[in-house]
Amino acid sequence: MKNEIEKLKEIIKNFEEKELRWKKLAEAVSEANAYAAILVAELENKNEALANSQKLSNERKEFIENVINSLESPFYVINTRFEIILANKAAIERGVILGKHCYECTHKVNEPCHGKDPCPLQEVMKLKKSVKMDHVHYLNNKEVIVEVHGDPIFDEDGNVVKMIEYAIDITERKNYENRLKNAYEKLKEVQEQLIQAGKMVVVGELASGIAHEVKNPLAIILQGIDYLDKKISSNDANITSALKYMNDAVHRADGIIRGLLDFSTSSNLTLVCMRVEPIIESALFLVKNLLDKNKIKVEKEIEKNLAQAKLDKSKLEQVLVNIFLNAISEMPDGGTLTVRAFADKVTQISEEAGRRVTDRFELGQPVIVIEVEDTGHGLSEEVKEKIFVPFFTTKRAKGGTGLGLGIAKNIIEQHSGKITIDNKPQGQGARVRITIKACAANG
Ligand SMILES: Nc1ncnc2c1ncn2[C@@H]1O[C@H](COP(=O)(O)OP(=O)(O)O)[C@@H](O)[C@H]1O
Ligand SMILES: [Mg+2]
Repeated sequence: MKNEIEKLKEIIKNFEEKELRWKKLAEAVSEANAYAAILVAELENKNEALANSQKLSNERKEFIENVINSLESPFYVINTRFEIILANKAAIERGVILGKHCYECTHKVNEPCHGKDPCPLQEVMKLKKSVKMDHVHYLNNKEVIVEVHGDPIFDEDGNVVKMIEYAIDITERKNYENRLKNAYEKLKEVQEQLIQAGKMVVVGELASGIAHEVKNPLAIILQGIDYLDKKISSNDANITSALKYMNDAVHRADGIIRGLLDFSTSSNLTLVCMRVEPIIESALFLVKNLLDKNKIKVEKEIEKNLAQAKLDKSKLEQVLVNIFLNAISEMPDGGTLTVRAFADKVTQISEEAGRRVTDRFELGQPVIVIEVEDTGHGLSEEVKEKIFVPFFTTKRAKGGTGLGLGIAKNIIEQHSGKITIDNKPQGQGARVRITIKACAANG
């Protein structure tokens, strides 16, 4: 019995010990549970924070994308290998492609820009600062002038690792600038012409006075030379050549004086409606000898039943003779002189002579055109510019006075007409074109 009691005690003790262990275990389990709950809560917190920060970074990305896509002009980022690594909508719409070289996309070339359009990336890398320059970009096969802004992105060692490029379309502004520049140039030209015209009026008045004064003494000198030539029948070659030089010089001076008189008295025009053909014929007749001597063929293309024009016969004849003489002196070894006359209508008001031409001609107005063409050397740019300037001549050594075309222009302008001289559109040689208003059918 004692043994059983002892055993029972032992069992109870064991049981108590076990119960104690169970209790401890239960306590440990509940402690672990509580700890796990904390961990779970913490984990949940962390997850939420992570989700929040993800959301925030997505929002930030979207915001930045929104900003660059809202830029009206192409905006892109280029790495140092000229590759486009970021581009906004405007850039992509204009043909900028991610991953491609910038020069391929904007300049349609296979190597970095240089020369006229220097490469902004190379400049930025060299200068390590922002640059600004004008470029011509080919965007969607369209040429646009852009103002390129290149801004460097540095690494922590201060090296340029990327560049932001922003290209603003300034084509319209440039066009306006060019138009303004052209208008300014034109204005300057007109001003020059006005000054020139003003000077010519003064020169004309002066010339007329001087010419009248000098004309008579010259005539007396000429008579004197003539007299001496006849009286001194000398075998001395020096005297003969001196007289010849004097004679030539006085003739030349006389030519200039007559030219100046023409210049200043051309306002006394008598304009009558008449046909141009007889005037062309009589002018050709006056130079017939020279034409024959120089073996120059004449081709006439005169339209039949050509309307009349309001003309001063002798003045137009003088103009034509001057033009024929110029043509002849351009063809010393022969050639062809073509004279055309035809009716036309004003289809455009040329700007080059300024407002005065606009005053002279109206669109659709019937005109008579006289064209004189030669097969000479034609005109250089320099000659073309000065051709109507009084005293401009390339023939001074051969006795040219440089007054022929200046006078012709004066006379034609007094017919309310227009005279131009240019190279022929086809073949070698010059073409003079005179345009005068046609008379109405009833005169
Ligand atoms: N048909 C032409 N072909 C080439 N040049 C010409 C022609 N007509 C005129 N010129 C040029 O224009 C200049 C001025 O002509 P013009 O006023 O008639 O003076 P000039 O005949 O006395 O030189 C000439 O010297 C010549 O250089
Ligand atoms: Mg001449």
